[in-house]
Amino acid sequence: MEEVPIIEMKGIIKIYPDGTKALKGVDFSVKKGEIHGLLGENGAGKTTLMKILSGMLQPTEGKIFVNGKEVRFKSPADALANGIGMVHQHFTLVDVFDGLHNIILGMEGHGLFSKIDVEKAKEKLQKLMDELNFQVPLDVPVEHLPVGVQQRIEILKTLYRDVDVLILDEPTAVLTPIEVKELFDVLRKLKSQGKTIIFISHKLREVMEITDRVTVLRKGEIIGTVNTSETSPKELAKMMVGREVVLRIEKPPKEAGKPVLEVKDLWVKGDRGEDAVKGLTFEVRAGEIFGIAGVEGNGQTELIEAISGLRKIEKGKVILNGKDITGRPPRELYDLGVAHIPEDRIHMGLVTEMTVAENSILGLHWRKNFRGPLGLIKWDKVKEHAAKLVKDFEVVVPSIDAPAKSLSGGNQQKLIVAREVSKEPEFIIASQPTRGVDVASTEYIRNYLIKLRNENKAVLLVSADLDEVLQLSDRMAIIYEGQFVGIVKPEEVTEEQIGLMMGGIRHES
Ligand SMILES: Nc1ncnc2c1ncn2[C@@H]1O[C@H](COP(=O)(O)OP(=O)(O)O)[C@@H](O)[C@H]1O
Ligand SMILES: [Mg+2]
Repeated sequence: MEEVPIIEMKGIIKIYPDGTKALKGVDFSVKKGEIHGLLGENGAGKTTLMKILSGMLQPTEGKIFVNGKEVRFKSPADALANGIGMVHQHFTLVDVFDGLHNIILGMEGHGLFSKIDVEKAKEKLQKLMDELNFQVPLDVPVEHLPVGVQQRIEILKTLYRDVDVLILDEPTAVLTPIEVKELFDVLRKLKSQGKTIIFISHKLREVMEITDRVTVLRKGEIIGTVNTSETSPKELAKMMVGREVVLRIEKPPKEAGKPVLEVKDLWVKGDRGEDAVKGLTFEVRAGEIFGIAGVEGNGQTELIEAISGLRKIEKGKVILNGKDITGRPPRELYDLGVAHIPEDRIHMGLVTEMTVAENSILGLHWRKNFRGPLGLIKWDKVKEHAAKLVKDFEVVVPSIDAPAKSLSGGNQQKLIVAREVSKEPEFIIASQPTRGVDVASTEYIRNYLIKLRNENKAVLLVSADLDEVLQLSDRMAIIYEGQFVGIVKPEEVTEEQIGLMMGGIRHES
């Protein structure tokens, strides 16, 4: 006889106040003691579904059963009382509190300032940490702790409330590979203690590694639930996207040519006046993709802004094709053949109120072919250009006269990529080029970067997605606290070594 599922959600519909139908009648069931993956592209409805299960949101329609009994959660406290707790993608910790006080915050029976309660809490937590082999400093204000540790505190906070079902929303997004491994060890231990885990992700490899079963959501609907041991990344990708996806990227071997970009002893300050980039020296050659991997916040953003003329350079030189371009403004760099796919597409890449056509010539609009005799913009030429970009890059747009904000994230990103490469640059900076982009567009953009490299362009890639850097780069640097811990060829290092480097430990070769 089938066991009663610990969680059963039936016919869940969620319509947000603005009319977005995020869930269209979802049935979802989880067995006690399993690690259940919830897989889907951005916007599929994963977070919405789990916020409903954890009491943060109420469904528009549908029923929830816990151990076969119908429940109605009006708040996260109701869900916790039923043994269900969620660790959110964006942490909810109070910065100035230490780990201990964050964990006991808001719990009944804990006076925050009662010594006895605090001591008792500490004991219980220590026991929990020992059992899981999962240590965190409890007496440091969390703002001083790395994100990986903050996440552990979030997890402990939920476990401390004695949950049976732990929901983790894309927990690996902020972790180094080693931290991911440690997290997986903890999840396995929790499973062996009889806990049930729902693991949200859009990363196939992780889902394949850690889950027992996987449910795939697409556009607010369940596509199916499969046993992990009986499926493959390929099948899951197809379920996720709705068509066959090329997971492998074809990258023919290629000799790199002359240096196109040279960076020499570059020093750049961060927003708080700290040294964010500390004496970096490297070059990007024609026909190569030079990747920079690392946990976010280690100087990547400042480095790119400095090279692209958006941030002051304190010391050092940037040279393009032998010409000193240190501190030159972005427009001048464009004229010299630099293209930039920026990290922050909403603030830097597009003017979302403007139309697709207008956006398609940003940074290009002074070019002669778009100007008439009196300097007036030739709109027929602009529209022709926009139509070509949209067609070549398969950007899904209502029309080229629609505002850029009406495009999905993936299509906005494709539009930026299309525009930047239409400048026929010799040097391309691609900063987090596929962040928040769906699988199909990701595949397209990655293959395009390879194509540019094959055409002998120089590509500087910065990405927090380690798989992306490994897949695309001919050479890669690992950045840590503003310095390179190593420059390696992806095929010559193990993931373990890269993981160590991302944590600041130098690679001995
Ligand atoms: N607060 C909200 N108001 C309106 N729409 C929302 C809100 N939160 C999410 N959505 C929309 O609901 C859909 C599902 O989002 P979400 O559950 O966050 O997906 P996922 O976690 O799979 O990326 C998306 O189209 C998203 O834009
Ligand atoms: Mg989400």
